[in-house]
Amino acid sequence: MHIKDIELKNFRNYEDLHLEFDEKVNFIIGNNAQGKTNLLEGIFMSSIGKSFRTSKDIEMLGFGKDFFKIKVTAQKELFPTEVEILLKKDSGKFIKVDGVNIKKTSDLLENIYIVIFSPEDLKIVKDEPEKRRKFIDRELCLLKPAYYDSLNNYKKVLSQRNIYLKEKYIDNSVLDIWDMQLSKYGSKIISMRDEFIEKINKISREIHGNITNGKENLRIEYDPNVKNSENLEEKLYEEIKKSESNDLRLRTTTKGPHRDDIQFFIDDINVRSFGSQGQQRTSALSLKLAELNLIKEETGESAILLLDDVMSELDLERQEFLVKSLDNVQLFITTTEIPDRLKDMMNLGKTFEVNSGKVKII
Ligand SMILES: Nc1ncnc2c1ncn2[C@@H]1O[C@H](COP(=O)(O)OP(=O)(O)OP(=O)(O)O)[C@@H](O)[C@H]1O
Ligand SMILES: [Mg+2]
Repeated sequence: MHIKDIELKNFRNYEDLHLEFDEKVNFIIGNNAQGKTNLLEGIFMSSIGKSFRTSKDIEMLGFGKDFFKIKVTAQKELFPTEVEILLKKDSGKFIKVDGVNIKKTSDLLENIYIVIFSPEDLKIVKDEPEKRRKFIDRELCLLKPAYYDSLNNYKKVLSQRNIYLKEKYIDNSVLDIWDMQLSKYGSKIISMRDEFIEKINKISREIHGNITNGKENLRIEYDPNVKNSENLEEKLYEEIKKSESNDLRLRTTTKGPHRDDIQFFIDDINVRSFGSQGQQRTSALSLKLAELNLIKEETGESAILLLDDVMSELDLERQEFLVKSLDNVQLFITTTEIPDRLKDMMNLGKTFEVNSGKVKII
């Protein structure tokens, strides 16, 4: 699939923008702080209705404005689709798909598939577990609306349980209600994460082998706080119950998928602790490319790839591998300067120059 055009009104530093994109390569160039990432953010919003930079929608509202609007038209394998997101300062977010209002954000999913790759993602192996959980969550939300709903419910229950644990007097029967709900939603999250990581592992293993000319064996493993098993909901409930005294002492929930992680191994060596920086970056690249392949496998659509400032972070060999392996993928590449090696690619598509929220084609 590819994105045909975008309209932005009062979104970040774009007051009024309308752009038509190339179906293959779109370079977005400009100095720092001009709006390159903002434009990618606007595009990305059409995928899951949320930013990749902030969880607070209101931050994307142009300074001093009282609404923003994003309209994205995409061409899928068989038909076009249009997503419109309106955020009003006073009354919240409204999303339309093909002109029809949707009731919940999960109805937006399975529509436009976008993968974002930024320098942040190159650090995913080394970063704290929360970043890796965010990665899983974003990708699974994209692929499975049921995951999106379970995750939202889990987060709500978790935060209510944590607030309750901080109260002076605690009624065990009330706590038990939270425990049951945590187990219900948590077990769905664990089993979907388990399945997802197994698939990602298989694909990234192959890609990593290709990048390193067969020299390295990458393995990605789910490192769950509570393991996937038969009768998972009951098992999780038991685990939560067992740690209740601990939770009461620490006044927070200690068991459950909010404490999950992923581990990376190259030839059985933990990449996070012992891998070189190059190995960590290559693993991250393999992971991202695996994500694209998985989307294609699961949905039949090729996702759109946003490369935010990532080219300059990769050495020439990896840049080349990346570009070569993305034959049928629409690319949006932001950069302050186009590396010599990629200049040929400019002829394949369009180049936009961004200057303080104004864009011109060059
Ligand atoms: N809500 C907002 N309303 C208006 N302007 C905003 C808003 N949020 C951010 N900006 C402006 O957008 C600019 C940053 O844009 P962006 O992050 O897209 O830059 P960039 O071109 O990607 O730069 P870099 O090359 O440094 O990554 C900042 O100057 C900031 O003031
Ligand atoms: Mg940027």
